[in-house]
Amino acid sequence: MNDKFSLTIVQEGDTKLIVPADHQSSGPASSNMPVFYNPQMEFSRDMSVAIMSNLLDDGDSFLDGLAAAGSRGIRIAKECGKKIELHLNDTNTLSVEISRRNLDLNGISRTSISNKDLRLLLSEGSYDCVDIDPFGTPAPFFPMAIKAVNKQGILCVTATDTGTISGIFPKACLRKYGTRASRTPFAHEIGVRNLVGFVAREAIKIRKGIRPIISYYSDHYVRTFVRILDDNKNFHEKIGYCYFDKENLDRKYSAEDGQNAIGPIWIVELSDSSFLRTMRIPSHLGTAERIVSLIQSLIVETRIQRPFFNIDEFARKAKINPPKMDALVERLNQAGTAARTHFGPKTFCTDLPIEDVIRSMTR
Ligand SMILES: C[S@@+](CC[C@H](N)C(=O)[O-])C[C@H]1O[C@@H](n2cnc3c(N)ncnc32)[C@H](O)[C@@H]1O
Repeated sequence: MNDKFSLTIVQEGDTKLIVPADHQSSGPASSNMPVFYNPQMEFSRDMSVAIMSNLLDDGDSFLDGLAAAGSRGIRIAKECGKKIELHLNDTNTLSVEISRRNLDLNGISRTSISNKDLRLLLSEGSYDCVDIDPFGTPAPFFPMAIKAVNKQGILCVTATDTGTISGIFPKACLRKYGTRASRTPFAHEIGVRNLVGFVAREAIKIRKGIRPIISYYSDHYVRTFVRILDDNKNFHEKIGYCYFDKENLDRKYSAEDGQNAIGPIWIVELSDSSFLRTMRIPSHLGTAERIVSLIQSLIVETRIQRPFFNIDEFARKAKINPPKMDALVERLNQAGTAARTHFGPKTFCTDLPIEDVIRSMTR
């Protein structure tokens, strides 16, 4: 092992992990680290453990395709309560060495480790679940990532290029995802819908479909877990466009393309509410409470297919003091459906006409 950097042991959930000693405990982790480890992503790994413990069965194979120190895959193998076959892969040879030590430290057997470009590995085999957690965009790993998932298997994908995938950088968004976009007050929702839509469009190229299990935005990344389907029915009802009227602040999704449309993106449910309702959250997870609160939000959000609102948008435009969030949501709920969203403390979604939203805001 390279002796130019020192190592330390951290604990996440029930798993101990050997990681570089100089990993930062706050602020963005750097892709220049000898072996990548970001303590801020513990919530993302806890989410993976929680979701996978509800989806995997004994004997299933799981590929952590961009494994770094092996943190995600090893945690799933150790904590999901199923005897899975774990495959770890990373192009970085130091990552592979540290992953091997982490497997030993946690007593994980039934594994393989490879040191390949993931694009090559994906073309060579298939797995019940494939996880892709890159620096930036996952786009270079498609459509091979979909091909490498077994029948009815699961694909988990992160994108950390939030400015690009959310349309804040429209040219990069078009280049990387093939999506026309522009800056909106609900950019993070565009990011999630763009990621899911991108995966669906890549799937249809090889005559597959997807069903989103759970999709969300958190801590400057977007992530989705989708089931890969053999049928791709109703593709044109699920992929569509977003319209935002900057003057009156109205917004909607539509299957129709048109002037100033943002898309193509996923325009129907981003998560499977029946899965979320029955999902068991392992209590040993350090962020279990935060997971419960995210899941509760996502369940409600599946009821409304319209971009979220931010209370500050109206305050800025109408130069009013914004009402208290809880009071506003209660008021909106008297006339229609409304709820807070997971996109931020000042955000809400509603199916009410824009005039009613504005009236509730200024009453
Ligand atoms: C963001 S890190 C993964 C973090 C990890 N999943 C976790 O939860 O800690 C991305 C990793 O992908 C590896 N990598 C980048 N491009 C790759 C490629 N084409 N094939 C395989 N590994 C790659 C990098 O070496 C790095 O370790």
